[in-house]
Amino acid sequence: MKKVLSLCLVLLAFVAQGQSKIDVKKEFEFAAKQYEGMLAAHPDLTKFPQSTNADGTPRDMKSDWWCSGFFGGSLWYIYEYNKAPQWKEAAHKWTMAVEKEQYNTGTHDLGFMIYCPFGNGYRLTKNKAYKPIMLTGAKSLSTRFDPKRGVIKSWNSFKGGYDYPVIIDNMMNLEFLFWAARESGNKEFYNLSVTHADNTLKNHYRPDHSAYHVLCYGPNGEVLAKKNHQGAADESAWSRGQAWGLYGYTVMYRETKDQKYLEHARNIADFILNNPTLPADKIPYWDYSKPGEERDASAGAIAASALLELSTYGGKNAKKYYNDAVIMLENLSKAPYKAELGKNNHFILQHSTGHKLGKSEIDVPLVYADYYYLEGLLRYDALNKRKK
Ligand code: GLY
Repeated sequence: MKKVLSLCLVLLAFVAQGQSKIDVKKEFEFAAKQYEGMLAAHPDLTKFPQSTNADGTPRDMKSDWWCSGFFGGSLWYIYEYNKAPQWKEAAHKWTMAVEKEQYNTGTHDLGFMIYCPFGNGYRLTKNKAYKPIMLTGAKSLSTRFDPKRGVIKSWNSFKGGYDYPVIIDNMMNLEFLFWAARESGNKEFYNLSVTHADNTLKNHYRPDHSAYHVLCYGPNGEVLAKKNHQGAADESAWSRGQAWGLYGYTVMYRETKDQKYLEHARNIADFILNNPTLPADKIPYWDYSKPGEERDASAGAIAASALLELSTYGGKNAKKYYNDAVIMLENLSKAPYKAELGKNNHFILQHSTGHKLGKSEIDVPLVYADYYYLEGLLRYDALNKRKK
């Protein structure tokens, strides 16, 4: 009887999946129309779409800002879906606009800046020009790894006199280094990624599987302090940080097949999805300790994309990961998160929060919310096509 019941539940879950309200074709048509406006509003390839200022004007940033790769990356995702040559051309232009950052050794963010545009471009077109740029970028990023500490340095300093801060976001750079290890044959990229992920797992996480934002390391790898930067408090769980960790450890499992990363990714997923402050639409507040305040649609989009991948690795909660990711994407695909055509400074999504305590980017569009939303839609589409 129990067996029949659980079989019925599985079948029901599949039926529910089949009836999902996400019309991927329609969403990509909307994205293309919205980003046509974005392209027209951005004739200068040194001004990268980022967000909206407090006065409602567009907020653009330069190529050395950590988000410069997301716009090009999103253009590649639109091209991946619609295969229209004008999107390939636009994606190429905005990808090459980041080229000089391959030499930037002053940031850990090269995974975002280089791999999101060039990595997607290379995956889709095999353009030979992209590979050496990416390999130089990976080399630049790897200069920030200190074998004595066993982690990649995120920022060059942090308040309180710390000189080796590592943020949870840094887990997102490792996918780029795994690519570089494969393409170059240099195992060092692989090894340092595993070391960074292991130390982050050991030091950055609390017993409830939530992550601190900033860890300050001493010269021998000792942890001097566990701090907050973009969340609400040192001991709170900043929503986007949890999403970065979820995505990062899902990639770690994909790349290494080490079960401990899979288990960790599942624990993070469970922290997020079972969190009492997670709203019914499953788009988190900007910090898990701040229910009722601003949402962070970017954290929802990153988590949705990661959960779809995690759902493919099986386990007792795989169906829940898939279903909850779909709920997130469904909600992002409509008001209040999805903007109206031609509004929202041409971004697709509204209601993200960049850095509330820093009084910056509060309840605004953010370029990386769009990027991970489009990635999530593509993953959802691919999974559904595979099932059919
Ligand atoms: N990496 C910075 C952020 O997530 O806002």
